[in-house]
Amino acid sequence: MDEFQFHEGRLFCEQIPAADLAARFGTPLYVYSQATFVAHYERIVAAFAPVEPLICYSIKSCPNVHLCRLLAERGSGFDVVSGGELYRALQAGADPRKIVFAGVGKTDAEVVEALRAGIGLFNIESRSELGVMEELLAQLDRRAEGALRVNPDVDAGTHHYTTTGRKETKFGVDIDQAVEVFEQHRGARRLRLCGIHLHIGSPVFDVAAYARGIERGVALIDDLRRRGFELDTIDIGGGFGAHYRGAESPPAAEYAAAVLPALRSRGLRVILEPGRAIAGNAGIILTRVVHVKQSGTKRFVIVDASMNELIRPALYDAYHFVWPVEAGVLTPPHRRPEQPFDGLQPADVVGPVCESGDFLARARLLPEVRRGDLLAVFTAGAYAMSMASQYNSRPRAAEVLVDRADARLIRRRETYSDLVAAERV
Ligand code: LLP
Repeated sequence: MDEFQFHEGRLFCEQIPAADLAARFGTPLYVYSQATFVAHYERIVAAFAPVEPLICYSIKSCPNVHLCRLLAERGSGFDVVSGGELYRALQAGADPRKIVFAGVGKTDAEVVEALRAGIGLFNIESRSELGVMEELLAQLDRRAEGALRVNPDVDAGTHHYTTTGRKETKFGVDIDQAVEVFEQHRGARRLRLCGIHLHIGSPVFDVAAYARGIERGVALIDDLRRRGFELDTIDIGGGFGAHYRGAESPPAAEYAAAVLPALRSRGLRVILEPGRAIAGNAGIILTRVVHVKQSGTKRFVIVDASMNELIRPALYDAYHFVWPVEAGVLTPPHRRPEQPFDGLQPADVVGPVCESGDFLARARLLPEVRRGDLLAVFTAGAYAMSMASQYNSRPRAAEVLVDRADARLIRRRETYSDLVAAERV
């Protein structure tokens, strides 16, 4: 269903040749497919329909306001983790009651902004935060709803930088201490602790681990209800996979099937916070080859995209499929270049940034590429632009959204003057 397909050796985004987009908007360029972005959202809605969930798109994955607006128009809520993300959600036309706010270090100012905006739910990550919430609510003479984020101590089997459900993480509270936290909060008047929040990591390809975390959360809710607490909400976080190598991510329906029985029987309001599963496969980066060079036994393909545009390979050793946009007959039948076919040579695809860690792909089998050729870096819709930097004073790339045969700029390319705009001489 993803709308980045090769036709007769040329890559298209929906109905537009990728090469045309590069010629029109320059490189490096983030290109998103509207149909893909919306379809992934709708798949999650459909998969979880039996519990009529509130889907809160995780803004951190791909925060462009135009993209957020597409989801807001379709009824989506938003998962935010900062005042900046709250601002984006509101700019996108979000219904504040459909905004949930997580984060281990929300500042008082951010909490006040969120209270004034009237957001739906605070995901509370510590006892300290719970106390501060009560104080701030008293000062403002307001009430709010919160869910306690708990760590179910499940190993999500993902990179240690993005696993969040183990006891030793900074997120949430240990599930074994949750009852105690609820007990301490009993009688508090302003923040109603109406549920629990879980997010065990990202991405979680292991559906069984994902389900285990939620089962532990549901068991906790049962226990708390027996103790007289009125809980009506479970926020099961994000963490659904995306396709990086082929079609390796379980579909939303599979995650849903694993957890719906436990959720349905409890009559809970269910909140989901998917990011990557919506945005990941909806975006690519187009980049042009600046030089090709041989260094010892290694072939380097030096491109104009870098760790500035996609830091995931450098940070997590993440795999992103890279392929020439106009590879002709060498179009991959699938995204499995480790299954070689004739005419491929290994290369490191690297950027111009002054760091040896600035690579997009290492020891990757690629067709012959030359200076001036265009490459596409796939699965770059999530955690690509949102983690972009200007390191080496490189202006951030533009973002383009394709809707069938239309392409529109949804973020202009930054200029040199943007680099220094906030600075004072
Ligand atoms: N909810 C919470 C509380 C989160 O911390 C996250 C992601 C999500 C939802 C969305 O997770 P998703 O559905 O996108 O998996 N930069 C890393 C990913 C960090 C994820 C942080 N939290 C990467 O590039 O893989």
